[in-house]
Amino acid sequence: MITDMHDIIMFSKEFLLHPTTVSSIVPSSKALSSTIIDKANLKNAKVIFELGCGSGAITRDIVSNLSDGAVFIAFDTNQTFTKIVKRKYPGVIVINDFAENVEKYMKQYSIDKADVIISSLPWAAFSHVAQSRLLRIIYRILNPGGSFLTYIYLHTFVFPSQNRFRKILNRKFKTINISNAVWANLPPAAVIRCIR
Ligand SMILES: C[S@@+](CC[C@H](N)C(=O)[O-])C[C@H]1O[C@@H](n2cnc3c(N)ncnc32)[C@H](O)[C@@H]1O
Repeated sequence: MITDMHDIIMFSKEFLLHPTTVSSIVPSSKALSSTIIDKANLKNAKVIFELGCGSGAITRDIVSNLSDGAVFIAFDTNQTFTKIVKRKYPGVIVINDFAENVEKYMKQYSIDKADVIISSLPWAAFSHVAQSRLLRIIYRILNPGGSFLTYIYLHTFVFPSQNRFRKILNRKFKTINISNAVWANLPPAAVIRCIR
């Protein structure tokens, strides 16, 4: 409980220091994380990437649902967060770098494709160019049949940048579904699952 509170305070501090990249004042809730994990089918995944792991709110549930021998790599640009996630989950490869550089690390770890990519990246804060570039990379590195999961905050639904993001997803992926609203999250969110 005290650890949770410490986590929340530290997360909120990072939000105040980097509001655009962190984008949420508190870590994702258990309800949001469970909705993602329910849709991710991690049992059958051999390679999993998490983009924007933050302080590890979703990382925790990914780790506890990994199958034996699965490779899991988590990325975040924020050094405070990556240090914490490394300490909490010593078995996870945690990279302090932009998600955009994922292919560099795939080469380093001799990984060809990913089966599941879980993203917490703040899409609504990204330019059109940045959204397109990152989604091209995500599509390229996903195995056919692989899943890309992300979530969007409901209040950003009307933002032009969010609208653009969903249009790119619709153009790229063959199957897309969106969960019911997860109200037990601050801010409320919905999970999008795209299948390549
Ligand atoms: C909304 S927070 C989510 C954190 C955590 N996954 C959670 O659910 O509580 C978004 C995270 O994405 C990270 N981030 C933003 N842009 C990034 C990028 N281009 N590459 C990697 N991480 C990024 C931020 O530092 C932040 O930790």
